[in-house]
Amino acid sequence: MKLIFLGPPGAGKGTLAAKAVDILNVPHISTGNIFRAAIAAASPLGLKVKSILDSGALVDDDTTIGLVRERLAETDTQKGYILDGFPRTIPQAEALSEFSQVDKVVNFDIPDTAVVERLGGRRTCRKCGANFHIHFGKPKKENVCDHCEGELYTRDDDKEEAIKKRLEVYREQTAPLIDHYRKKDLLVDIDATPKVDEVVENFKKSMG
Ligand code: AP5
Repeated sequence: MKLIFLGPPGAGKGTLAAKAVDILNVPHISTGNIFRAAIAAASPLGLKVKSILDSGALVDDDTTIGLVRERLAETDTQKGYILDGFPRTIPQAEALSEFSQVDKVVNFDIPDTAVVERLGGRRTCRKCGANFHIHFGKPKKENVCDHCEGELYTRDDDKEEAIKKRLEVYREQTAPLIDHYRKKDLLVDIDATPKVDEVVENFKKSMG
């Protein structure tokens, strides 16, 4: 199954993807995680994109498309994948259709108020990238990752100004993808507002 997870920042795409990989047995490919790993490694890509991510703007299409094209050429994506955070613009969607055909696009439906609450309380593991929340998904030990014991931190783009900017960017550049994929009859809407377990059930139902 080849899936795109589409939705505003903080909608819960990464959280559901982490569960869905076990259900579908396909890799989770998050462009945001790829960029953050490059920043942590201080690679040329990381140095180029750090200030862009911190501000909440988008990395240019050519760089992002090139990364995903390379990643989807790897053998583990043959039977499927979950693309989380890509495509995010119409040119990215058009480019993707030239090198891979997706089966469904899962559209996370959630109001801005919930997004702000989720992003404001998110804590991310420096080592493995797992997400927690100070109210909705606490780690067993404060500031320590349940999976790898890495340190938890607040992403720079989870600060108030950057959240505002990311929501604007989402509305202007990413939300038009909803109609784009609806017209192609690929869109599946899921209510992303309930608790994680319920969202997982909504997802399973929507996948049949
Ligand atoms: P990216 O990492 O993709 O950020 P995003 O799309 O803004 O998504 P998030 O990771 O913020 O949110 P999410 O929906 O995964 O929510 P999560 O599951 O963590 O991208 C970062 C940046 O990289 C971009 O701004 C851009 O600069 C660049 N970039 C990436 N892709 C790009 C592209 N294609 N083109 C150009 N630039 C690109 O959940 C959020 C919080 O809520 C967590 O704390 C979680 O524990 C909690 N939570 C989750 N689900 C629930 C629930 N059901 N109930 C209660 N709490 C919940």
